[in-house]
Amino acid sequence: MLQVPKFKVKANHIKKIAVLSSGGDAPGMNAAIRAVVRTTIARGCEATGIERGYAGLLEDLVHPMTPSSVANIIQRGGTILRTSRCPEFMLKSGRKKALEILKKHGVDALVVVGGDGSFRGAHLLHKESGLPVMGVPGTIDNDIHGSDDTIGFDTALNTGIELIDKIRDTASSHDRIFLVEVMGRHSGMIALHTGIGGGAESIIVPEVKTSVDAICASIDRGVRRGKTSSIIVVAEGCQFGGATPLAKEIEKRGYSTKIAILGHTQRGGAPSAHDRLLASTLGAVAVHALLAGVKEGMVGVQGQEVKVVSFNRVTGKKATLPKDLLAIAKNLAV
Ligand code: ADP
Ligand code: F6P
Repeated sequence: MLQVPKFKVKANHIKKIAVLSSGGDAPGMNAAIRAVVRTTIARGCEATGIERGYAGLLEDLVHPMTPSSVANIIQRGGTILRTSRCPEFMLKSGRKKALEILKKHGVDALVVVGGDGSFRGAHLLHKESGLPVMGVPGTIDNDIHGSDDTIGFDTALNTGIELIDKIRDTASSHDRIFLVEVMGRHSGMIALHTGIGGGAESIIVPEVKTSVDAICASIDRGVRRGKTSSIIVVAEGCQFGGATPLAKEIEKRGYSTKIAILGHTQRGGAPSAHDRLLASTLGAVAVHALLAGVKEGMVGVQGQEVKVVSFNRVTGKKATLPKDLLAIAKNLAV
């Protein structure tokens, strides 16, 4: 069970809290939005929703929210506030305009549900204006420094593993080598965890360099032990540029392969129980922190503890892949 920090209740000026989702959508973002809105209202403040992330903020898509605006969404994937990527917010002039719109709506503090890029924008907005801004980590990639977990990661793993199970039926019936490409951008977190959970024969991640010959040698080792099929989980950001170019190289060496690119299937769908609980907790703690006078930072998870980590320590740093898990994966695949 997660341990939640206790904040001292302090008098402060915050009367209205806005929430937005930004970057790639992730299952559980709705549960986080619901938690922010309902906790804000339960604590006697007003809640405001901003549609389409920073882009919607710049288009003034800012609306009041009530407890019933977030009814019946905890089980839904995606984000009811919708999301976007917004180049204009990268500019100081864009963030100045955003601040003016927030001021016009009487917003005293902002909660951003998103990934590392969204937090870079949130941090700059805070530094340039003094507006209190909290981040809630929502991305399937689980690549955020300062948090062991992110909203959507667990659901993406469950989806990936379910799909690998299905692919394995065909792989073993037809004696085939399947390359299964998973998302994760520059991170191998999704690949490593779905690979272990799906019992992959090999896992190719961006953080560990390998060679096509080494991958083929591991297929051969399996064949010598009587394996007639193989699942190779490939992170989209790996050195080969994904499953398709890697499959071409493997085929050049005389093997026949099939490719399955899981793509956005991992981003959609109902959030798992784990992600609903995580999102509900982190969303609520973001509001508690703001009302206790915390000015900026991400509400992350370290071990079993929920912690507020300053954006300074979050942005621009990469979460590291647990190398001990990689070693475990290697032994399990022999
Ligand atoms: P994620 O939040 O999932 O990592 P992105 O990296 O696409 O997704 O970032 C989402 C949005 O955050 C961007 O479209 C942009 O509006 C904002 N953002 C990203 N990086 C910066 C930055 N360095 N400065 C200001 N805003 C940024
Ligand atoms: O950050 C989440 C993520 O799904 C990455 O895993 C992936 O590389 C990227 O977003 C895909 O972005 P888009 O939906 O814009 O294609």
